[in-house]
Amino acid sequence: MNNLTDTPFSRALGTVALRWQGNSLELLDQRLLPAQEHWITLEGASGVARCIRDMVVRGAPAIGISAAYGVALAARHAGSRDWQAEIRQAIRELSESRPTAVNLFWALQRMERVFDSCESVGEAQERLADEAEAIHQEDLAGNLAMADHALSAMGLSADNAAPVSVLTHCNTGALATGGYGTALGVIRRLHEKKLLTRVYADETRPWLQGSRLTAWELMRDDIPVTLNADGAAAAILAAGEVRWVLVGADRITANGDVANKIGTYSLAVLARYHNVRFMVVAPSSTVDMSLASGTDIPIEERDGREVREVRGISLAPEGVPVFNPVFDVTPADLIDVIVTEKGIVRNPDMAGMQGLFG
Ligand code: MRU
Repeated sequence: MNNLTDTPFSRALGTVALRWQGNSLELLDQRLLPAQEHWITLEGASGVARCIRDMVVRGAPAIGISAAYGVALAARHAGSRDWQAEIRQAIRELSESRPTAVNLFWALQRMERVFDSCESVGEAQERLADEAEAIHQEDLAGNLAMADHALSAMGLSADNAAPVSVLTHCNTGALATGGYGTALGVIRRLHEKKLLTRVYADETRPWLQGSRLTAWELMRDDIPVTLNADGAAAAILAAGEVRWVLVGADRITANGDVANKIGTYSLAVLARYHNVRFMVVAPSSTVDMSLASGTDIPIEERDGREVREVRGISLAPEGVPVFNPVFDVTPADLIDVIVTEKGIVRNPDMAGMQGLFG
């Protein structure tokens, strides 16, 4: 397969978070955005696992794609005698990098299935690289399909549809995916079709994915964005301009509950109170039908320094105890529609989810 970053298709998509070079994986260091565009080159799975853990690359689909390339790198650089043990160890290490986004485990299982059927290191090198590129390519294609489904679900496919303003949380764009984005892909599509008045972007405390990444991505593409503190969302929704809240997901369970960036749940409560529609946009690789409900989802807690400090500058008394869960669970009954590349589930519940993902 061709290098995915060097096709007319991928070039047309603009911003990318990762570049596969055959013998190495390049990751755009998202910790440094928007101040610096710095690429990190990785030649082994351990480096990829570290980059996922340290949030060089983040966002559920991008984490899964990076992990898949990590397995391909393990094969590429494996010795001819212990290749199986080395690849198996790489899969284990990658699976321990972050716990909540199920796309990581989904991608690793796909890679493991291919690995299990390989009989030589040469075969593993070729087939694992192909599989990782397929995962990448499918994610990108899925995002484009989701944008179409979402516009129909919003009732905005008709020629005479009127433009809307939306509010989003975290970063669900090209930086978080194989390209284009999930919820941000829908926003791109609205803009392409002149159906977007404005995007309000929550800054997304504490890691600031909204201000550092979403605002950057949208401004690069001249998409009208207004940045707001998370606490301003209630006032924005009360003002009545915003018609839809659009968010991504890290894991969706069999009853339609959704784990996503911390603050998503409060936004869903606010949306219901203000009669604003709430849409979750995610690929089917984010759906985990093995878990009955959101209470079963492992929620990552990260270092308290992410709350106490910004870029090493202390904003709180030294040593103050911090609670830093980086995801929360939005109950299905607060969600109006879940959009995937396979189709949509309105008013999600067990039956609706089973119907599409059975
Ligand atoms: O901690 P992050 O930045 O990896 O969290 C990202 C999110 O919560 C996104 O909303 C989610 O992964 C969907 S990205 C298309």
